[in-house]
Amino acid sequence: MRHLIDPMDLSVEDIDRLLNLADDISKHPEKYREVCRYKKLATLFFEPSTRTRLSFEAAMLELGGSVLGFSSADSSSAAKGESIADTARTVACYADIIAMRHPKEGAPYVASQFVDIPIINAGDGGHNHPTQTLTDLLTIRREKGRLDHFTIGFCGDLKFGRTVHSLIKALSRYDDINYIMISPEELQIPEYLKKDVFERKGIPFREVEKMEEVMPELDIIYMTRVQRERFFNEADYVRLKDSYILDMDKLKNAKEDLSILHPLPRVNEISVKVDQDPRACYFRQALNGKHVRMALIMDLLGVSADED
Ligand code: NCD
Repeated sequence: MRHLIDPMDLSVEDIDRLLNLADDISKHPEKYREVCRYKKLATLFFEPSTRTRLSFEAAMLELGGSVLGFSSADSSSAAKGESIADTARTVACYADIIAMRHPKEGAPYVASQFVDIPIINAGDGGHNHPTQTLTDLLTIRREKGRLDHFTIGFCGDLKFGRTVHSLIKALSRYDDINYIMISPEELQIPEYLKKDVFERKGIPFREVEKMEEVMPELDIIYMTRVQRERFFNEADYVRLKDSYILDMDKLKNAKEDLSILHPLPRVNEISVKVDQDPRACYFRQALNGKHVRMALIMDLLGVSADED
């Protein structure tokens, strides 16, 4: 049984296979319209979501399957005190594959220990978000044509941002990537990433506080929202929330082929004026998320398109 809990569950070969399949799906959607007929995806979302849940659901529907699930903990038996294990065991009686988002780190892993259908981690607390990572990798490959040899700046809440943590882990297997971490001191990447990923693999990285200072060097900038729901007190959030706002002025010194990524939702960290700039990739990125989730669902369910 295969699950997707951590981005490192995927080898570089797995990633290539999934991204290639996602490309084929977007080029020839008609080939894939029935491949998941009679299969059901359950989306168990104990935390808010727009893109992740809806792109999972759209993905399954476009593969000819069906979807069921809930979109908040309040509307599930979690509100009555049910454990993750019991919820997962129950849903496994009704569905063929589960995508789960939970505020507690490790919850999808716990669920995976109790069921014999694939579990996909759709975000666990401040920890991992492997399907956003697949989305980001597909976006980088589509925008840049490669997954190596570039300078990437991660900007904003690098402490609590699970999409940042997962993407850094996944990218650490590719060659010649320069990492620049742009954040206030209090929102720097966690120590475990510095030690277990960068230091252990001998990968250099820089930490800076000002985005202007490094803008001309960047091939990719990965913007993030300050993760209000993971702060221990509101005053710290209010103090840090406007640390970075990417606007047209800050892009003046940027490369002409810079790619601006953001997992979304955006609060105010990218000015809406930037949306018109061809370097803004974040809505294309949201679309890529559907294609790569279609590929992942097919892969975990072991289905393929019949070749004639
Ligand atoms: C992200 C998440 O949930 O971690 N959103 C997403 O899945 N696209 C980013 C965020 O909430 O800031």
